[in-house]
Amino acid sequence: MEKIALIGSGLVGQAWAIVFARAGHEVALYDASPMTLEQAEVTIASRLNDLTRFKLIDDPDSVLGRISYAIKTSDAVAGARYIQESVPERLEVKREVYKDLDRVVGDDTIIGSSTSGIPASAFTESLACRARCLVAHPINPPSVTPLVELCPAPWTDATAMDYVFELMTRVGQSPIRLKKETPGFVANRLQGALLSMALRLVEDGVCTAEEVDIAIRDGIGRRWSFIGPFETIDLNAPGGIADYIDRYGPLYEEIERSTIAPLDWSPALARRLEAERRERLPADRLSERSEWRDRRLMALAGHNRAADEKIGK
Ligand SMILES: NC(=O)c1ccc[n+]([C@@H]2O[C@H](COP(=O)([O-])OP(=O)(O)OC[C@H]3O[C@@H](n4cnc5c(N)ncnc54)[C@H](O)[C@@H]3O)[C@@H](O)[C@H]2O)c1
Repeated sequence: MEKIALIGSGLVGQAWAIVFARAGHEVALYDASPMTLEQAEVTIASRLNDLTRFKLIDDPDSVLGRISYAIKTSDAVAGARYIQESVPERLEVKREVYKDLDRVVGDDTIIGSSTSGIPASAFTESLACRARCLVAHPINPPSVTPLVELCPAPWTDATAMDYVFELMTRVGQSPIRLKKETPGFVANRLQGALLSMALRLVEDGVCTAEEVDIAIRDGIGRRWSFIGPFETIDLNAPGGIADYIDRYGPLYEEIERSTIAPLDWSPALARRLEAERRERLPADRLSERSEWRDRRLMALAGHNRAADEKIGK
């Protein structure tokens, strides 16, 4: 199995290490901060314990044994067929890192970026290896959330897209293949549309931020972990999706017409939301709650896997 190199070993890089190593790949991590790399070793071991507890892996020691830590980029990428870059979401940092990678990568090495929103065209244009660069955007943490959005730059070779699609499928992820660049790719555009409506509801005094969370958590979000919005509406009218649009289209058109003005994501709005959230969750408990969320995601992954087998996909 081909070697995988991970450049940037923070939150997302560490989860990628688990994705590739549990599938049997040798994985080399590199990070500009030696302290982060040391911390990564501890965090990965603890995440593997959690995954074992939720029966999502059965041999954490052999997964750990496939993960190594490099002190130089060139050591990490030596012999690697695929590199997953997960450095901070700043254009100048991505540009620098890719310039370095361009000097040291092999002739057939492919590089996927974890970037949440910067198109690959913004940091790969002048590189010799640009045809082998693309975005491979995960949802955090990729070790329990399988979606990966693959997005090419205009010069990305189709064979590079094919390779990463096949690799991601092989390691148990769920890749989708975008045909062209668009800000936020697919998932964050969808999330952005929902967030924008959620903010309007709070701004307009219709309900509280907590009530928006309840509407998603105990309402429409329940089905979204196993079917998407199109399948949802296909099943919500006796005659399927066209029947649904016929019945409820006018309602959605009315909503659309009432929300034409772009929303101002203002500091004042951020302050109001911050105040409501901090009342429910003090800032010093954010990371504890993130760990709770990751364990809930593991439990959900286990449940979805069992339900796929018992009831069908
Ligand atoms: N956190 C999320 O929810 C999430 C989700 C999907 C995608 N992403 C994307 O993943 C990428 C990484 O995000 P993150 O949340 O892991 O950030 P992070 O800050 O946790 O990790 C980034 C790591 O990169 C290291 N780094 C900085 N400069 C470097 C360099 N020149 N070479 C090597 N390493 C370097 C930092 O030391 C840090 O450990 C970003 O592009 C982000 O948009 C994040």
